[in-house]
Order: sequence, then structure tokens, then C-alpha cells
Amino acid sequence: MSLEPANPAVSLLGLEGAGLLAALHAASFERGWSEADIRDLLASPGVRAVVMSEEGEPAGFALIRAIAGEAELLTLCVRPQFRRTGLGEALLQSAETTAAAQGAQRLFLEVSAANEAAIGLYSRAGYRTSGRRKGYYRDGSDAVLMDKPLG
Ligand SMILES: CC(C)(COP(=O)(O)OP(=O)(O)OC[C@H]1O[C@@H](n2cnc3c(N)ncnc32)[C@H](O)[C@@H]1OP(=O)(O)O)[C@@H](O)C(=O)NCCC(=O)NCCS
Repeated sequence: MSLEPANPAVSLLGLEGAGLLAALHAASFERGWSEADIRDLLASPGVRAVVMSEEGEPAGFALIRAIAGEAELLTLCVRPQFRRTGLGEALLQSAETTAAAQGAQRLFLEVSAANEAAIGLYSRAGYRTSGRRKGYYRDGSDAVLMDKPLG
């Protein structure tokens, strides 16, 4: 299904995309989510996957869950060879548009305090820090809680 007809590189994926999303996730995270994990998420209420292609191949995706006027960014990743070209920012914008279309007024996320790239991306996109969870991740890093009003 096309999300923005003016931009054919962006699309929404359904259950059939679980394998592709698992491969993209594994390319970015040490502990990748399995295809079954992602299929379960895609089958959950309010969950949407936004995928972006570059040079005709899938380059990254964002997964959101929007319920009762609020949305959560479940994951966002760009394959290493396509980073730093604006795709992360474009994916985040598409995730926000998708969440707003589902009725969400705010998008929440959590990110490791050690993840400079993601914190840089979110800060530049207008996300503000609302809290911190000490030692939340396996490597001992804190989780930074951020959010942004939509629309
Ligand atoms: C975080 C991530 C999605 C960014 O994707 P990207 O396509 O490289 O991001 P963009 O090119 O759109 O960058 C937009 C802005 O974010 C910031 N940014 C991106 N990467 C950065 C880095 N390595 N260091 C510092 N700031 C960075 C910059 O402000 C950048 O703008 P600039 O390139 O004009 O300076 C990507 O690094 C990634 O997939 N990381 C692994 C997965 C991950 O950690 N996901 C987030 C989980 S919460």
C-alpha cells in the first residue's frame, strides 16, 4: 500500500513484510527481532510499519504503535550503508504522519543514552526529553524518554 503517492520510495507493509523487516532489523541491532516477533507485532492493534527504499532496495523502516490518541516508536533503523543521507529523518517524519493519521497527538520513544546518532536525530526533529530510566539496557546504559506533539 502506498503511503504517499508523490513519494513511491515510502510504503506501508503488512504481515507479508515480516521477513524483510527482520532482515533490516538484524542489520542494525546486535539482538535482532525474529520474523515471528515482528509478525506478532504487525498483527497487534495499532501497529504500522513504514519502509523506505533507496536505489530500488529496502533501506530502513520504522515501526509504530498508535492507540487511544498516543503513539510509540517501537523501532527505527537504517541499513549502515545508507546512513547519514537523511533517510532516518525521512522515516521518522513518515512515522509521525502515519501516527497522526491514526489519531495520535503525541509520539513517545525511548533510546539509549549511549546512542548518539539516534539522540541527534530525535533532538533535531524536535523531540524533548521527559525522563530517564537508570541502567535500563543490557549494557548498563540509561534509557532516555523523549516525546513530541504531532500536528
Ligand atoms: C539512528 C539512525 C536511524 C539514523 O539514521 P540516518 O539515516 O543515518 O539519519 P539521518 O541521515 O536522517 O540523520 C539526520 C540527523 O540525525 C543526526 N545524526 C544521525 N546520525 C548521527 C551520528 N552518527 N552522530 C550524530 N548525529 C547523528 C544528525 O543531526 C543528522 O543530520 P546531519 O547528517 O545533517 O548532521 C541510524 O543511525 C541507525 O539505524 N542506527 C542503528 C539503529 C538505532 O540505533 N536506531 C534507533 C533506536 S532508538
